[in-house]
Amino acid sequence: MKRFLTPSDIGDLRQALNEAAEVKNNPFGYQHLGRNKTVVLIFFNSSLRTRLSTQKAATNLGMNVIVLDINKDGWKLETEFGVVMDGDKPEHIREAVPVIGQYCDIIAVRSFAKFEDKEEDYSERLLNQFIELSGRPVISMESATRHPLQAFADLITIEEYRKKSRPKVVLTWAPHPKALPQAVPNSFVEWMKAADVELTVTHPRGYELAPEFIEEVHVEYNQDKAFKDADFIYAKSWASFSEYGKVLSTDRSWTVDERKMALTNHAKFMHCLPVRRNMVVSDGVIDSPDSIVIQEAANRVVSAQTVLKRMLEALE
Ligand code: CP
Repeated sequence: MKRFLTPSDIGDLRQALNEAAEVKNNPFGYQHLGRNKTVVLIFFNSSLRTRLSTQKAATNLGMNVIVLDINKDGWKLETEFGVVMDGDKPEHIREAVPVIGQYCDIIAVRSFAKFEDKEEDYSERLLNQFIELSGRPVISMESATRHPLQAFADLITIEEYRKKSRPKVVLTWAPHPKALPQAVPNSFVEWMKAADVELTVTHPRGYELAPEFIEEVHVEYNQDKAFKDADFIYAKSWASFSEYGKVLSTDRSWTVDERKMALTNHAKFMHCLPVRRNMVVSDGVIDSPDSIVIQEAANRVVSAQTVLKRMLEALE
C-alpha cells in the first residue's frame, strides 16, 4: 500500500476488518515488520487521539517514531511554486518533503482545511505534495477533505457492536460554536458507502456535503425521522460546503439527547472526539452505557496499526 486516503486504498473491506481483528487480538505479533523502520508523524494541526494512537500503533509494530509539530518545531514552509521567497517562510516544501523522506520509511501527515478557498482545500495540494515529493508511502492523519484512520476505526467499532448483518447507521450533524471541517463526515460517508450498512445522513438544509461524497446517499432533513430504528448514531458537526466554511446554524434542537436516542433501536452513540458536551450531545447520552466513544477511540490504535502493517509488508 503506497498511500492511505480512501477505502479503496485498503482494498477488500471484509479482509481489512478481519486483519484488524487479528491485530487487535495480537498487537505485538508483528514486531519483526517494524524492526529498523521509522515513521515520521507530521502535524500541521493539533491532535490528541491521532498522535497518541498512531504512535502507539507504530510502537506495537516495533517501529521507531519521530513526531514533528511542524508549525512549532520546523521552519515555516512555503508551499507556492515560483514565488520570490522574501517573506517569513525560509524553507520550501519542495526541499522539506524530500528531506523528511530521507529520514524515514513511512510518512503520516495531518493538515486541516483552512476554509480560505474551497477549491484549494478540496484539491488537497499539501497532502499531494507529500505523496509526490517524499518518495515514501503516505498516510493521511486527517487532511482538508478526509480522515480515513478515523473512519476505518469507526467501521471496526461498528463491526464489533453490530447486532445484525446490515445495521442502520445514521450520521447526524450537530450544533457547534465553531466552523469545523468536513473531513470526518466525508470519510465516514465514504467508508459506510463501501461497507455493508444502511446509511442515512441527517442535517439542516445548507449543510449538504460535497457532491462526490454524498451522491447516492439517503439524506433525511428531519432528524427525528432519521433516528427511527437506527442501530448506530454518529454525531458530528461540520461547516457548510455550499457556503464554504460558514456556520449557518447553532440550533440546539439538533443536539443528540435522550429523547432522540429513544427513537432508535437502542442505538449505540458514536463520535470521533473531541466533543462539546451539551452542544453536540447531552451528558446523559454520552455518559450512558450505549455510548461507545471510548471504545471507538481505542480502535484508532487498531486502524493505524493495520494500515502501518500493510505498508510495512509492502516494503519487505
Ligand atoms: N478524532 C481525532 O482525530 O482526534 P484528534 O484530533 O485528537 O487526533
